[in-house]
Amino acid sequence: GIPVVLDCDPGHDDAIAIMLAAADPALDLLAITTVAGNQTLEKTTLNARRVCTVAGITGVPIAAGCARPLAGPLRVAQDVHGESGLDGPAFGAPSVGVVDGHAVDLMHRLLAERPVTLVPTGPLTNIATLLTRYPGDAARITEIVLMGGSTERGNTTPYAEFNIFADPEAAALVFGSGVPVTMCGLNVTHQALVTPEVVAGFEALGTELGRLCAELMTFFGATYRELFGFPAPPLHDPVAVARVIDPALVPCVEAHVAIETAGTHTRGATVVDLDGRLGLAPNARVAVGLDAERFFGRVLAAVSSLSTV
Ligand code: BDR
Ligand code: CA
Repeated sequence: GIPVVLDCDPGHDDAIAIMLAAADPALDLLAITTVAGNQTLEKTTLNARRVCTVAGITGVPIAAGCARPLAGPLRVAQDVHGESGLDGPAFGAPSVGVVDGHAVDLMHRLLAERPVTLVPTGPLTNIATLLTRYPGDAARITEIVLMGGSTERGNTTPYAEFNIFADPEAAALVFGSGVPVTMCGLNVTHQALVTPEVVAGFEALGTELGRLCAELMTFFGATYRELFGFPAPPLHDPVAVARVIDPALVPCVEAHVAIETAGTHTRGATVVDLDGRLGLAPNARVAVGLDAERFFGRVLAAVSSLSTV
């Protein structure tokens, strides 16, 4: 499979991204790294351990990374993901632990052995820190396929999506790094709606893990309904994983993407030059579509294959 590291801040949709990355036969998940975002680093790391425990993902190292953004205050998404960052189901004490050392040093060690695709589904703090701490690693990263930004409007401020808004300096560094970057933004993840039929699909697996996924999506659906008026919650983060699994699931175009770090009203906005008005060379592939049916088929197959009871 394709060697990947999932860099996440679980998070309801990150939780499903972990399951998809661990179980899909197209991927070889080398590590799960955590970052502060949806909740504090302590909580997102605990949640990664919880997810791996309930899903029986035991052979993948988990390492904790950055606890705060490169600049500015830490802002969590408690309103969306709850106090734990993964509210909804009851979790027992996790049996899966974390490895010693910083997430960024683990990525560096893995990159020394082979080229790796990095899949960030939280703020880009760990990835930016890797690129600054180990500049030589840039050439060894196959690609950075991230969930973040949008070609349209934001979900945290009118023009900024949460992962980019949470650490715009890190995002600017990543998009300016010269490493191939693929951006899966809200314009496509909002097509990955977990409809009642998808929730029923999780339940129909007839397993504990399937029921847990349904519970996670029910909590996530309630906050998305209350906060954003969505009919069903968007499964943002697994879309980035799906792009690595099969690029045809998430078609992209090349474009120049600038990260607004200084805007009075637009800090954290992804300025995507879809029409090439600026005449700048593209620095990213930008997702513009989603095959939602095949995407959810892949997600359900992954959860099904992890389910033991
Ligand atoms: C992103 O923010 C988080 O709430 C989700 O996990 C996703 O990564 C969506 O804007
Ligand atoms: Ca996330």
